[in-house]
Parts: sequence; structure tokens; C-alpha cells
Amino acid sequence: MNKFIMNKMPKVYFGEKALKDALENEMKNIGKTVMLAYGGGSIKKVGIYDEIVGYLKEAHKNIVEFSGIMSNPTYAKVQEGARIAKENHVDFILAVGGGSVIDCCKIVSAQAKLEKDIWEMEFVNKQFPTEFIPMAAITTASGTGSEMNNGAVITNEEVKIKAGVLGALAEFSVLDPIYTLTVPMKQAISGAFDTFSHAMETYFGKPLENNVSDEINESIMRNTIRNIREVIKNPQDINPRAELMWDSAMAENGILKLGKITDFQAHQIEHQLGAYTDCNHGQGLAVIHPVLYRHIYKEGFSKFVRFAKEVWGIRDENLSVENIALKGIEALAEFIKEIGLPTTLTEMGITNKNMLKEVAYSSHITIGCCKKLTHEEIFEILLECL
Ligand code: NZQ
Ligand code: ZN
Repeated sequence: MNKFIMNKMPKVYFGEKALKDALENEMKNIGKTVMLAYGGGSIKKVGIYDEIVGYLKEAHKNIVEFSGIMSNPTYAKVQEGARIAKENHVDFILAVGGGSVIDCCKIVSAQAKLEKDIWEMEFVNKQFPTEFIPMAAITTASGTGSEMNNGAVITNEEVKIKAGVLGALAEFSVLDPIYTLTVPMKQAISGAFDTFSHAMETYFGKPLENNVSDEINESIMRNTIRNIREVIKNPQDINPRAELMWDSAMAENGILKLGKITDFQAHQIEHQLGAYTDCNHGQGLAVIHPVLYRHIYKEGFSKFVRFAKEVWGIRDENLSVENIALKGIEALAEFIKEIGLPTTLTEMGITNKNMLKEVAYSSHITIGCCKKLTHEEIFEILLECL
């Protein structure tokens, strides 16, 4: 296990009536002018908007709305939010939605306190924000775990880069699985697969030797697999939704990453695919993962064997270790098919090879991946995904 520093996590209100508990307890710490930030309007349909506005009005807060945050939030949207926050002297941001809304708000919170452009500051000058408008995350669609950390994934359309930007950490996060019952099944599954991907991308990071973080990770992966199957069988059952919501938070709250250099190579490729196509994040990952793993498993052999045994229960004594490792990757590919996620880019409507070359050559290559890929190899992987 590598040395580590364990960072602060947001205070979490989880479960039934978590929103009421959170707002009642925290209202005294929330300034007078509150930015209520949300996406395309699902929060109005599911009733959470009225509930929040009710609490804020009761507490005599001024409400400033920032709406229309799109999936795969853009840098232009961040700038719009920061402008609204500055003009209205916003004291606190309530981000209500999935990963996209929460991510956008983390950077709005930082940009509103800065004169300089945060993209240039972080990517060119390698400086990071230290002042933020305090914020809270109210999660209505789980999967990204965005409510648990200070990283945000933003698409800068001008430079065609979708990348992680560091912003605010929520003061508190609300996770009530009841709000996720209305998330369309396709999104619920792609979100849950995103969680599974975060766990794998941490597990296959360095060191490959097993350690306590990876053993906790194995149970998160097994739990995620089981509850994805449950949620498909019983879409209105709150229990698998609750389990998946906490799996999602666990995969991104930093616990599984302690002592590890994470891999996240699949994410880096998918993010660039997103920058070029605006595709769904979990779906893109589902296509990339098995193909990527068939390319790299020899370099991380012992861990791929353990993944097959401990996560997928492959214990056939007659199989060679090579075949056990491959069976684990096949089990992953079968699972992706079983839960109705796409298995090819063509299924996602992505077929342009020239564009894929640009995706490959603009993808970041990670140091945590057991095999250090080249851009040419990433292009080969993407062609195999077609
Ligand atoms: O916009 P609205 O109307 O709210 O609809 C949303 C959106 O269409 C809908 N939705 C959310 N809650 C709902 C609901 N519909 C019905 N009932 C509800 N209760 O769901 C759709 C998808 O929402 P979105 O936030 O885009 O999805 P997700 O949570 O998967 O977030 C995806 C974004 O997060 C980034 C991804 O790259 C992508 O940009 N990620 C963020 C990470 C992080 N910050 O740690 C890590 C991830 O790896 C990921 O990259
Ligand atoms: Zn992800």
C-alpha cells in the first residue's frame, strides 16, 4: 500500500427524510441568498423543487435560480452560473440533480470567487482555487459519486476537451434514494455501471498487490452487480436503489483510493469520446472497458485473476490462470450485455473513424494503468469498439 493523506469528506445525510433533516439542521449555516441550481426540469416533475423552495421560503432566504444545466456540463454553462452568482451576491449554492448539476456547481462556486479564468488557471498555470461559495449537493440520480468529492468533469467546447477540474467540496450531501425512483431505467443502469467502473478503475490501479482498500472494493463491486440485477427486476423497490446510491458514494468518497494510484484510463478515453460526441458517460464506459482490459490484462495479470475469482466467482480448478483472467473479462462483457448497456460504439451511433482518431490522440494517458498505452493503441482500442 502506498502512503496517503485522507482528505475531508462532506457531511452525509442518507436515507428517508434526509432532505428535511439536512435543511432543518443546516439552514442556520446557509447564507441569506441561495442559488438553487438544477438541470432540465426533472426536479420539478418529481416534486423536490417545491419541497426545497418551501423550506427556503420558510427560512426567509432569497432564491436565485440557475437552471438548464445539461448532461456533460459545458464550460460556457459554468461561466453563466458564475456570472449569475456574482451579480446576485449568492451566499450558498444548492446543487440539486445528478453528477452534471453537482459538477457544474462545484466549478461555479470556485469561478464566482475568482477574477481569472479557472480553466486557464488549472490547466495552464497549474494553480488551484482555495476560495469557494459554500455549497451542498442534493443527489437525485446516483452513479457518479460527485456529491462526495471536489472533482468536476467539465466539457470545454472551444478546445474540445472534457476533463476533471478541481472545485468546491460540498459542505453537506443529501442522499435519499426515494428521489432516484423516477430516474429512467436506462440512466439508472448507466449510472450504476459508472459506479462499477470507478471501483474497477481504482482496483486495477497501483499497487496491484492486494490490500485492504482493494478488499473493501471487491465487496462494493459484488454489491453493485447484485443490486443492478435487483433494480432491473424490481424497479420500484427502494432497497436496491439505496444500496446503489451508497455504492456510488463509496466508490468516489476516497476510501477505496487510499494507498492506491488510480487507473482511470477507461475514463480518460470516455471523457474525450464525450467531448466529441456528447455521449452518455456510463454507456461509453460499458463499451470501452472489456476491449481495454483485453489489451492490458497481461500487464496486470495477478489482479485480473483475482478479479475473476473474487468479483465474478470463477473458480474452475481445470482452468489455467490465463484462462481464469480472460473468463473474468468475459464475465464483465456478458454482464454489460445482460443489463442492456451497449457493447459497441456503433450501437451508440458513433461510427466516424477520423473522429475516433482525434479522440484517441487527445486522450490523456494515465500513470496508474498497469500498461502505459500509446495514442496509437488507444486508437486501435477505439476501432475495436466499433
Ligand atoms: O436534467 P434533468 O431534467 O434533471 O434530468 C436528468 C438528466 O437528463 C435526469 N435525472 C436526474 N435526476 C432525476 C432525473 N430524471 C428523473 N428523476 C430524477 N430524480 O437524469 C439525466 C442524467 O443526469 P446527469 O446528471 O447528466 O447524469 P449523471 O449523474 O450520470 O452525471 C453525468 C456527468 O457526471 C460526470 C460525467 O462525465 C457526466 O458529465 N462524472 C462526474 C464525476 C465526478 N464528479 O466525480 C465522475 C464520473 O466519472 C463522471 O465523469
Ligand atoms: Zn465515471
